[in-house]
Amino acid sequence: MALKLRRLSNALGAEICDIDLNKPMSESTFGEIHRVFLDHAILLLRGQNISREQHIEFSRRFGELDDHKSLPSDRHPDYPELLLVTNRPNADGTPSESRYTGRLWHTDLSYTTHPALGSLLKCYELPEVGGDTLFCNMTMAYDALSGGMKKLIADLHGIHISGTRKINQQDAGEARRAEVLKLNPPIAQPVVRIHPETGRKALYLGEKVKRFDGMTEAESKPLIDYLNKHATQPEFVYRHQWRQHDIVVWDNRCTMHQALGDFDETRLRHMERTTVMGTPSGYVVAGA
Ligand code: OGA
Ligand code: MN
Repeated sequence: MALKLRRLSNALGAEICDIDLNKPMSESTFGEIHRVFLDHAILLLRGQNISREQHIEFSRRFGELDDHKSLPSDRHPDYPELLLVTNRPNADGTPSESRYTGRLWHTDLSYTTHPALGSLLKCYELPEVGGDTLFCNMTMAYDALSGGMKKLIADLHGIHISGTRKINQQDAGEARRAEVLKLNPPIAQPVVRIHPETGRKALYLGEKVKRFDGMTEAESKPLIDYLNKHATQPEFVYRHQWRQHDIVVWDNRCTMHQALGDFDETRLRHMERTTVMGTPSGYVVAGA
């Protein structure tokens, strides 16, 4: 069966139009879906009104799932495989710990030695307008660099720091940030990585990277800023406008993403994510 696809942007992404996760799916159909995932890096599945168990079960077909012990405060209380990305206040009325998740360009769990292979984010509630997510293609970004730049960055490692945030409000979860940082010491990851399934090179950076290993922040910043800006230029980006019951699947090994805060914070935005574990990568940086 050939899947019906609709490309999402020139840079990346494809919607699979004829899929219903409420129905059983054969190995061969999943094989086709997986091929589209490798070819387009982002999958969009619309109208998937499925249970949490079904979300988890479908995610498992991509690989073993993370139990989110690096982010204990954001775990679903009943399902460790589900991570909450929500501004729904806690039962005691305090603000949700995860209301500012993803506001920097990043890839999931890059600040651990087991960065995520993929993530499957399902939309439950969204504001009337805004709350979009941006994705960029890091393979395309790498390929577009000059030979000189490719040579310059070939052996660099960027130090990824957990819990760094764009929003620096006093109430933006200081305790959570400290907790996450304690659980996750800074990790150096290669700036250029090879996708284990496609064999293609991709840039591996983001706004959680403050310096290169063996270099100062002042020395590193201009190049980090340049590469992040290069990678997130509109030509390499897809902007996803969510609908309720959308599931977006992304390949963390060749993309970055960013949640936009362009919505009325008094409105509910509630998403839940599963995280597929990737192959080990990176090393702990002592005293970083
Ligand atoms: C995530 C994330 C972005 C968003 O779930 O990993 O970064 O738009 N979410 O909610
Ligand atoms: Mn994320």
